[in-house]
Amino acid sequence: MFILLLVLNISCKRDPVVKDPEPPVYGIEFTVPANWPQPIYTFQNNPLTEDGFRLGRKLFYETRLSKDNTISCGSCHQQFAGFAHSAHTLSHGINGLLGTRNAPALSNLNWHPAFMWDGGVNHIEVQALVPINNPVEMNENITNVIAKLNADANYRILFKNAFGDTVITSQRMFKAMAQFMGMLTSSNSKYDKVMRNENGEEFSASEESGLTTFRQKCAVCHKEPLFSDFYYRNIGMAVSPVLNDSGRAHITGAGNDRFRFKVPSLRNVVVSWPYMHDGRCPSLDQAIDVHTSGNVVSPTLDPLLINGIPLTTQEKQNIISFLQTLTDHDFLSDPRLKNPN
Ligand code: HEC
Ligand code: HEC
Repeated sequence: MFILLLVLNISCKRDPVVKDPEPPVYGIEFTVPANWPQPIYTFQNNPLTEDGFRLGRKLFYETRLSKDNTISCGSCHQQFAGFAHSAHTLSHGINGLLGTRNAPALSNLNWHPAFMWDGGVNHIEVQALVPINNPVEMNENITNVIAKLNADANYRILFKNAFGDTVITSQRMFKAMAQFMGMLTSSNSKYDKVMRNENGEEFSASEESGLTTFRQKCAVCHKEPLFSDFYYRNIGMAVSPVLNDSGRAHITGAGNDRFRFKVPSLRNVVVSWPYMHDGRCPSLDQAIDVHTSGNVVSPTLDPLLINGIPLTTQEKQNIISFLQTLTDHDFLSDPRLKNPN
C-alpha cells in the first residue's frame, strides 16, 4: 500500500513550471465596476490567472493564427481605436480581402449575451474560432494553428505556465483568449468618474445637457452603464444593395428579425470610427443623423424610431460633447493590453 501511494505520488508530480520571461507582474484580477450589473461571463470554468491572460494576449496578437501569418486579431481590433479597426468601413483580412461588416469596438465583453452584429456567436470561448475560419478574415483552420504553435518551444512553455503542461489544444487556446478578451474592461472614462463622484470630476454644461437629452432619446437602446441593451434593432437605415445584410435574420431565419442589428455600445465611440454594421458613417454627426431622420419604414423598423428622433442642432451638439466623455484613455493606453510580441 505504502509503495503504491509513493508511486502515485511520483507520477502525479508536475514538471517544474517555467516562468514566462516577461518581467512585470500585473496582478490580473477581474472586478465588476461599482453600480454595474453582474456580468454574464465570470471565468467560472476558466480560472483567470496572470499566465492565462498573458498567453491569451500573445495569441490575440499572433499573426500565425492566419493562413499566411500576416493577420492577427489585433490587426482588426486595435487598442488605440477602442479595439475597433480604425478608418476601415468593412474589415480587411488576409490578402486584403474585404469582409461584409465593420469590426466592432471591443470592451466589457463579459456582459454581452451574444457576439457579432447579428448575435451569431453565443459564447466568448468560441468567438475566436469564427475569424480564424473566415475565408476573408484569417482563412486558417484550427489544426494548422495548433501545429504552428506546437512548433514553437516558447508557446509550449506559455501553455505549461497557464495550464500545467505543454499540451496545446484548441480548447486551452480559446480559454486563454477568453481570459484576455474578458479583461477588456473599460470603466474609467470621464463619464464613469463623474458617476462615481471621483476626484471632483464634473461635466461641462454642454456635456450635462447632452446626457439629459441622451437619457431621453437614446438610452432606451444604448442603455447605461454599458451603453447597449444588447438587443437587436432596426433603426431604419437604407439596406445596402451590395451587401444586402439581413442582420439578425441571418442567424434566426425569421422574417421579423430582418435588418435588426445588435445595439453597439458607445464606449470609446469617438475613437472607433467609422460607425454602423457596415461602417457607412464616418462621423458621429452622421451616425446620429441616420437615427433622427429618413428612417426607412419596414415591418421591422423599431417602433421607437417610426418618427425618427427629433433633435435640435444644439441638442445634437451637446450629445456629441457627452459622447466624448465616454473615451477611456486609461483603457486605450493600458500597457497590459498592448501587443507583447
Ligand atoms: C479581418 C478583420 C478581423 C479579424 C482578423 C478579427 N476580427 Fe473580430 N470582428 C471583425 C468583424 C468584421 C466583426 C463583426 C462580424 C459580424 O458581426 O459578423 C468582428 C467581431 C468580433 C467580436 C464580437 C464583438 C461584439 O461586440 O459582438 C469579437 C469578440 C471579436 N471580433 C474578436 C476577435 C478575435 C479574438 C479575433 C482573432 C482570433 C478576431 N476578432 C479577428 C473583424 C475581425
Ligand atoms: C431604437 C434603438 C436605438 C435608439 C433609440 C438609438 N440608437 Fe443608436 N444605434 C442603434 C442600433 C441598432 C445601432 C446599430 C445600427 C446598425 O449598424 O445597423 C446604433 C448605432 C449607433 C451609433 C454607431 C456606433 C458604432 O459603433 O457603430 C451611434 C454613435 C449611435 N447609435 C448613437 C445614438 C444616439 C446619440 C442616439 C440618440 C439620439 C441613439 N443612438 C439612439 C439603436 C438605437
